[in-house]
Amino acid sequence: MEDTYILAIESSCDETAAAVVKNGRTVLSNVISSQIALHTLYGGVVPEIASRKHIEKINQVIKEALSEANMELNQMDAIGVTYGPGLVGALLVGVAEAKAISYASGIPLVGVHHIEGHVSANYIEHPELEPPFLCLIVSGGHTHLVIVKEYGVYEIIGRTHDDAAGEAYDKVARAIGLGYPGGPKIDKLAKEGNPQAIAFPRAHVEGCPYDFSFSGLKSAVLNYLHHAEQLGEEVNRADVAASFQAAVVDVLVERTLHAAKEYGIKNVALAGGVASNSALRAGMEAGCKKAGCNLFYPSPIFCTDNAAMIGAAAYYEYKKGVRHGLDLNAVPNLKIGQR
Ligand code: KG4
Ligand code: ZN
Repeated sequence: MEDTYILAIESSCDETAAAVVKNGRTVLSNVISSQIALHTLYGGVVPEIASRKHIEKINQVIKEALSEANMELNQMDAIGVTYGPGLVGALLVGVAEAKAISYASGIPLVGVHHIEGHVSANYIEHPELEPPFLCLIVSGGHTHLVIVKEYGVYEIIGRTHDDAAGEAYDKVARAIGLGYPGGPKIDKLAKEGNPQAIAFPRAHVEGCPYDFSFSGLKSAVLNYLHHAEQLGEEVNRADVAASFQAAVVDVLVERTLHAAKEYGIKNVALAGGVASNSALRAGMEAGCKKAGCNLFYPSPIFCTDNAAMIGAAAYYEYKKGVRHGLDLNAVPNLKIGQR
C-alpha cells in the first residue's frame, strides 16, 4: 500500500502548530509555537492577540514542519486543518492558510474537528489501539465521554453541564493565586498537599449517569477561600489544590469506569490537555486495573494542542473520502461528529 502524507495545521487557541504525519500514526515532525508566555501577562488567552501571533508565526511553523520531516510540499497527499471549535479569529488564520496552500498546490483540503484531533492523538503512540473504545475528553473547553465506534464516528454518552474540567482547573488556580495556565500549576502544587484535607463536593447530575458538573465544586473552593479570608486564617494552598484535584479526578474516574462497565468496553482512552494530569492518570490506571480495562493516553506533548493529532484525525477522514472545498470556514462552535 502506498504511504499517505498529511501536512496538518492547528491554530484554534494559543498554539500555532504544524506537523507532517505518515499514514495517520507516524509523526515525522511536530512544530509548536506557543503563545503561553505572552498570554500569561494577561492571566488568560486574549483572542485578538492570539490571532495576530498566529499570522506572524504560521508560515515559519509550516516551513519548519516540512523541513524537519525532510519533505517537500508536493509530496503531501492532503492538507489537514482545524476548522473548529475554537476562537474564530485564531481558527481563521489556519483555515485561510490551508486554503491558500491547497489552492496554489492543488493538494486536497481536509477540515478537522479540534476535539476529534485530541481523541486521535491516542493513535500516534498506540498502534494497537483501534475503535471501538471509550474516550474521556478533558480539555480547556470540553468535557465529554464518547464511544469511538469507528474512525471518525462518535457517540457522545456524557458531557459537562457547566464548566469544562480544564476550565475549573484554570479558575481555581486563579483563585489561589497560581496564574495561567492553571492546570499544570495545580497538578504540581497538589503533590505537596493532602487530597483528603478538605471535603469538596463530588457532583452527580440527576438522571444522567455519565454527565459532569464542576461549577458547584468551583464555588465550594471559592467559598472556602472567602471564609478563611473573613476569619483571617491562613490557607494551605497545597491542600486546597490537592483536595480540589481529588474531587475532579474522583468523578472523572468513577463516571468513565461506570460507562465502560455498562457498555462492556475494555479499551479506555484519555484525551485533551487535562489528560496529562498526573493524578488523573494515576487514578485512571488504578481504576482500569481493578475493572480489567486497558488504559491509553498520549504523551503530554500530544495531550495539549498540537498539529500531529490533527494529522492523525485528517488521515482517517481523507481515507474515507472527506474533502473540503475552498468555501471551508471557521466554525467556532463546531459539534463533535458534525461534518
Ligand atoms: O486541550 P488543551 O490544550 O486546549 C483546549 O483544547 O482547550 O487543554 C488546555 C487545558 C487548560 O485548561 C489547562 O489548564 C489544562 O488543559 N491542563 C491541565 C494540565 N495540563 C494542561 N490540567 C490539569 N493538569 C495538567 N497537568
Ligand atoms: Zn485543545
